[in-house]
Amino acid sequence: MKTKIARIEELKCEKGVVIFAHYYCRPEVQQVADFLGDSLALSIKAREVDAKTILFAGVHFMGETAKVLSPEKRVLIPNPEATCSLAESCPAEEFAAFKAQHPEALVISYVNTTVGVKALTDICCTSSNALQVVESVPQDRTIIFGPDKNLGTYIKKITGRENMIMWNGACHVHEKFSKEGILALKKEYPEAKVVVHPECRGEVADLADYCGSTAGILAYCDTSESDTFIVVTEPGILAEMEKKYPQKRFIPAPSVEGKACNECEYMKMITLDSIIACLENEAPEIEIEEEIRQKAERSIEAMVAVK
Ligand code: 13P
Ligand code: SF4
Repeated sequence: MKTKIARIEELKCEKGVVIFAHYYCRPEVQQVADFLGDSLALSIKAREVDAKTILFAGVHFMGETAKVLSPEKRVLIPNPEATCSLAESCPAEEFAAFKAQHPEALVISYVNTTVGVKALTDICCTSSNALQVVESVPQDRTIIFGPDKNLGTYIKKITGRENMIMWNGACHVHEKFSKEGILALKKEYPEAKVVVHPECRGEVADLADYCGSTAGILAYCDTSESDTFIVVTEPGILAEMEKKYPQKRFIPAPSVEGKACNECEYMKMITLDSIIACLENEAPEIEIEEEIRQKAERSIEAMVAVK
């Protein structure tokens, strides 16, 4: 592994590439990242970073978002087959037909979508800012919220907003966390705080002491007085938790199938080998038709403008 990491560092320098990685990536991939973060932080960083080429260690929509915001940069992705079940649950043509049925509605989409869906969207959101984005819309305006029905339902519940129409999509990783498994862990560790990503089902989110994005969860674990946490999201985040807070204890939550934790196989497709090949070949690269890119950019910029 050491030699692979050294080879990546050498290629990064030689080719002037910066590596972005999401918290769900393998620990060794997180190790070679220049910037590690959640979807929101990485999107914002993609605009700001001073580099000609970004290699995005994450799923396809994350690389697309970086390219939408920084069209002048080259965005390399180590494995184009690393997609996302949530983004795939919302094909752009079907979303366009859904939108046409509700012409009065404003469209809010989670960034876990293809660029085609972002181009049909008024304001994007991430799990970090979904609440603020929804609250920025006048109360009397109907909202189409897509594609994650779990995140949408969670926001609807905390805002008490009735006029939200949901797209019926979900993340296969977060849908599988088990309420019973978490309740059993709570019995075993009564002092533990439960931290949950809002892509989980409502009955699971209801068990949370804190519910929020990966970055939000990390911040909560930092400030919480508790030293034990039941972690109800993709276990890639454990590497950063253990690195940042070595004195605290993190227990991954089980899935309905009884698995000790629930991995995103798409995120795990990004390996050190695929990064080396991508840096050597300077491919594959994200390419987006300019008209679609500009439309998608408007919806992401609208999100960034919400404070
Ligand atoms: P974050 O918004 O927390 O980065 O989550 C992204 C994601 O894919 C969750 O499944
Ligand atoms: Fe997509 Fe779910 Fe994987 Fe996140 S964890 S990238 S939403 S499939």
